[in-house]
Amino acid sequence: MDSTNTQAAPGDWSPTSWKSKKVLQDVAYENQEELTSVLGKLNKLPPLVSHYEIKNLRKQLAEVAENKRFLLQGGDCAELFDYCSHEPIESKLKVLLQMSLILVWGGRTSVTRIARMAGQYAKPRSKPTEIVDGKEYTAFRGDNVNGIALAERDPDPQRLLGAYFHSAATINYVRALISGGFADLHHPETWNLKEWKFAHVENPAVRAEYQTIVNRLNDSLDFMRTIGADDPSKDAIRTVDMFTSHEGLLLDYETSLTRKVDGKYYNLGTHYLWIGDRTRQLDGGHVEYFRGLENPVGVKVGPSMKPEELGPLLDILDPNCEPGKVTLITRYGHDKVSVYLPAHIAAVKATNHKVVWCCDPMHGNTESTASGVKTRRFDHIATELGRAFRIHKECQSKLGGVHFELTGDPVTETIGGSMNLQESDLGRNYQTFCDPRLNYEQSLDIAFMIAKYYEGERSPMKHL
Ligand code: PEP
Ligand code: CO
Repeated sequence: MDSTNTQAAPGDWSPTSWKSKKVLQDVAYENQEELTSVLGKLNKLPPLVSHYEIKNLRKQLAEVAENKRFLLQGGDCAELFDYCSHEPIESKLKVLLQMSLILVWGGRTSVTRIARMAGQYAKPRSKPTEIVDGKEYTAFRGDNVNGIALAERDPDPQRLLGAYFHSAATINYVRALISGGFADLHHPETWNLKEWKFAHVENPAVRAEYQTIVNRLNDSLDFMRTIGADDPSKDAIRTVDMFTSHEGLLLDYETSLTRKVDGKYYNLGTHYLWIGDRTRQLDGGHVEYFRGLENPVGVKVGPSMKPEELGPLLDILDPNCEPGKVTLITRYGHDKVSVYLPAHIAAVKATNHKVVWCCDPMHGNTESTASGVKTRRFDHIATELGRAFRIHKECQSKLGGVHFELTGDPVTETIGGSMNLQESDLGRNYQTFCDPRLNYEQSLDIAFMIAKYYEGERSPMKHL
């Protein structure tokens, strides 16, 4: 493997060609020498993922783009170094696996799982600084830049090495769990579907509906066991793929983990990267860096995306029109999705690009309570998602995936869901330092909703 970062790949691209462009959300380090030394060290460290895995993900996303698979992407808004510990990793993996099982069953389709994990540390901010007790501090930019504590707000290059090693430890444990049987469909303490009593679900009608889905799902699993389809030697049933992803925000860090393999450039720090809604300018540094990568890439698409920008953006990121190379992760808000999505679908249809359409119903639905707590309403999340499914169908397009901020832990950050969390409950276990997430039950609520949607699609009469 050639790990130099200087050879040009497509046309005039190189892993550092972004440096000639305007880079938004950049971090100003005081000690440039220390930064250079850290980046040199990162450039020597071994990759965290292999290009074989990235090629496998590319293949799977091509199938999503061709409507043969569904994509589930989820995890924390801001991953913290502290989450690199066995319980948070296990609970996040568990909720993603359980959601995907419900989606596989409900959609009768294979599901590709991408965790926002093992590197989701850097955060874009609307303001670079904040005032606390009359004093100005650098805003918290994520654990790979600075600390949440006011005394640790100066950007520290050593945190980039911390990001690498925490990502490595996280991904190592994810791999160990998956290859050790954590994903086995019948593993009692991980799936445990038979024990579910839905005690958290307040409404008896919803509880009965969910219980029916779980009973039927368990029936299917029993049937598979009866016919031997769950034979442990059959890897497709015992094990699953779990890919990692993060926002590719800190271009110095991303460049230092970019490697040339078989004449192509891969970011081997993660399987999948996306460009945030604030950094996707056609002539900006982020789009420039992303256009040279072999990894599949995502772009967040919000209300400020002009339909006429989509074609040129896709021409840059996907010059060979390869299905699934680009995922458009739409995030408008429940009250805006109907205004913007149809024109965005039409703009992409007018090109030769086959994208994955993915709905992020989180980032357009953030609000603050009267007392200033950042939250989201489950109903708004569900509404944006439901509308996205419907609009794609009406436009003869297909929603290929979903993107959530979630955790496997019992946090109280999002209002609503089947447990009917109230605004007054938010203080009970509000943990996030960035955006509010779905908790374990709310995440499964969403998976059941999608399963129900697919059921209705298969037998529309039932839902009339
Ligand atoms: C995020 O995904 O955490 C985020 C900041 O999203 P967006 O770029 O869509 O605002
Ligand atoms: Co977020």
